[in-house]
Formats: sequence, structure tokens, C-alpha cells
Amino acid sequence: MESILVTGGCGFIGSHFVRLLCAEEKFRVINLDKLTYAGNLENLSDLAGGFRFVRGDIADRDLVDRVLKEERPWAIVNFAAESHVDRSILDASLFLQTNIGGLHVLLEAIRAVPVKRFLHVSTDEVYGDREGRDAAAEESALRPGSPYAASKASADLLCLAYRRTYDLPIIITRSSNNYGPFQFPEKLIPLCIRNAVAGLKLPVYADGRQSRDWLHVEDNCRAILAALNKARPGSLYNIGAGGEWKNLDVVRAVCRAVAAQTGQHLEQVESNIEFVADRPGHDRRYALKTENIRRELGWYPRTGFESGLEQTVRWYLSHPDWVARVTSGEYQQYYDAVYARQWGKPS
Ligand code: NAD
Ligand code: TYD
Repeated sequence: MESILVTGGCGFIGSHFVRLLCAEEKFRVINLDKLTYAGNLENLSDLAGGFRFVRGDIADRDLVDRVLKEERPWAIVNFAAESHVDRSILDASLFLQTNIGGLHVLLEAIRAVPVKRFLHVSTDEVYGDREGRDAAAEESALRPGSPYAASKASADLLCLAYRRTYDLPIIITRSSNNYGPFQFPEKLIPLCIRNAVAGLKLPVYADGRQSRDWLHVEDNCRAILAALNKARPGSLYNIGAGGEWKNLDVVRAVCRAVAAQTGQHLEQVESNIEFVADRPGHDRRYALKTENIRRELGWYPRTGFESGLEQTVRWYLSHPDWVARVTSGEYQQYYDAVYARQWGKPS
């Protein structure tokens, strides 16, 4: 049985990927995760420990070396990252440490203990704002617009340089915005679901006309697994569902799903929509060309946005304890910094 080292497997997308690997029953899974505010072992409690968990930092070279020597994994899939744009605006330090420094440690470590595949999970945000531009192809220029996106673009460039210089078996995937169960309620969709259920304000930045291509997390995980199994080392794939949704329409769709599933009046839920101060440097549009992964790997998304959203709302409504627990720590402090004090400025 081959081993796969997944980093960040206790986060949103990583936990779905660990679940997918365990269901395949042909891999031994090692999950290396620091358990930051976004990482939660409870996200994998249904697997009853069907994987090895190592708590630690991808930037800890001794630890990474030890795990690689013990496990000699066939592949590494790197999800570990600081992932939220708004936090990177408040303070970018951890983004540089983990997303660039941590990735660098992993690359150096596989020079010493080789693996057959190193799949680095990246994002469409590295291409920057596509307003007035075509959808981004894999070879489009990188124009990151936020500290988060800059850290991810830097990591991609480091991967490409290590591929060329040391011939490492690196594959990169760049997906659009994911949504689904277990997403931390700082991102637009789970934040609005939580607030709509609790009767709190639904904060829409600026005019709400920015657009994103929402991809169900399980579709992204199937694409990453297809790339891991079938892609040639050195390849890079965009992953997206191909739809463009304006933020205000997404928030209205959340309101409809919450009203339908809780019996609240739609007008009442929608009356909580509030236009708030814009995110500094806010990218208005992300859009991807995804022909390559569809043609070469035979992947396509299975979940339509509206049915995926209804299913996601159902999951949050049936997991109030999970929501309460993940928002019990520093969440309120973070929330106040963005929404009450508006980008950390003293009120
Ligand atoms: P997340 O914030 O939900 O989870 C990140 C996980 O990484 C957590 O479990 C956290 O504990 C862990 N982690 C953070 N720093 C670490 C470190 N130094 N060492 C070890 N573990 C660490 O993130 P997510 O939304 O699941 O995103 C996963 C990956 O996918 C990230 O690389 C992100 O950039 C990328 N991505 C996310 C999206 C999205 O819409 N969420 C879209 C495209 C790409
Ligand atoms: P987000 O979920 O943070 O993902 P990303 O910034 O990686 O695209 O945000 C999605 C969109 O929703 C983005 O245009 C910012 C906007 N947004 C709001 O309007 N209000 C909010 O409270 C949040 C968190 C996001």
C-alpha cells in the first residue's frame, strides 16, 4: 500500500481530501497539520482514526525530515496554508512563514528524501483581478492583488524553479473558490449561513458586484486526486466550475436556502443584508480557463452551485455544535477587527 503525506488535512479542503483518500482504500494516509484556528481534528472524526495524525508545522525541517524518513511516502499533497485574504490584510506575517517558508522546507526535504509526486495546492487568486480581462489560462501572467495571493504566487514560482533546477516531480493545481461542509465561517458562504441562521447582519463588501467561480469542495478534491494519479510531473492545472456569481447574488441564494430550510420569512432574512466597507485592494473578478484538466484528465464538476449550496446550508443547520465550537476562540476578535473596527482601525 502506497503512503501519501497530506499537509493541512484538518482544514476545510484537506479534510475532504483525506476522506476521499481513505475511501479509496489503496493509500495509507499521514496527515501533518499544525492545528491553527482553521484546523480541527473534529473535521475527520467520522474516519475513526483511519490515518496517522502528526501535529506539527510544515516549516519545521526536523519534523518533516523525520516523518519522511519514517514513512517514505509515494506522494505529498500540500494543502497547509494560511488561507483567508482578510486575515492577510490585517497581518501578512504568518502567510509568508507558512505559505512560502513552509513550502520551501517541504521542497528542500524532498530533495533529501525523494517522493514520486509533490502536488502543491494553489489558487486562481495568483492571476489577480480578471475584470476587463479574459479568463486566466495556466500560462497567464501572475498578478496577485492581496498579501495572501502574493504568498501563493511566490510559492508557485518556487515550485516551478525547483522543478526546473532540481527536476522534482511537482504538480500544481489552481482552483477557484471552494464551498461546502466544514468551511471555517470567515469565508463568504459559511459566514453568511451562520449569520442568517442567527439573525445577524450579512456583510457585503462595497456594491456586492464582484464575482467568483464557486466550486464544490468534493469536485476540487476529485480533480486533485485525478492530477495526483494521472498528471505528468511538471504539469499545472486550473480547476473551476465555469460559473460566475456576483457576491450579492450568492448572499441572496444563501438567504433563499436558509429561509426555505428554517421556515423563516425570506424578506426577514434578506433584510439583514448590509453593504459594508470594502476590503482594501479587493479583486473584482476571478475567472479560469479549465479546458486542460477536462480534456487531459477527463475531470468535470458534478455539483451545480444551487444544489451544492442547498446541501451546504443543510450541513451547517445540522451541525450547530461544530459552528459554535469553531467560533468560540479568537473568532469574535477577528470578526470585530474586520467588521466593527473596519480593517483593524481603532473605532
Ligand atoms: P483552511 O484554512 O481551511 O485550512 C488550512 C489547514 O492548514 C488547517 O488545517 C491548518 O491547521 C493547516 N496549517 C496552517 N498552517 C500550517 C503549518 N504551518 N503547518 C501545518 N499545517 C498548517 O484552508 P483551505 O480552505 O482548506 O485551503 C487549503 C489549501 O487550498 C490552501 O493552500 C489554500 O491556499 C488553497 N485554496 C483554497 C481555496 C478555498 O476556496 N478555500 C481555493 C483555492 C485554493
Ligand atoms: P472569500 O470567501 O473571503 O473568498 P476570496 O476572497 O478568497 O474570494 O470572499 C468571497 C467574495 O466575497 C470576495 O469578493 C469578498 C466577498 N466578501 C464579502 O462581500 N463579505 C464578507 O464578509 C466576506 C468574508 C467576503
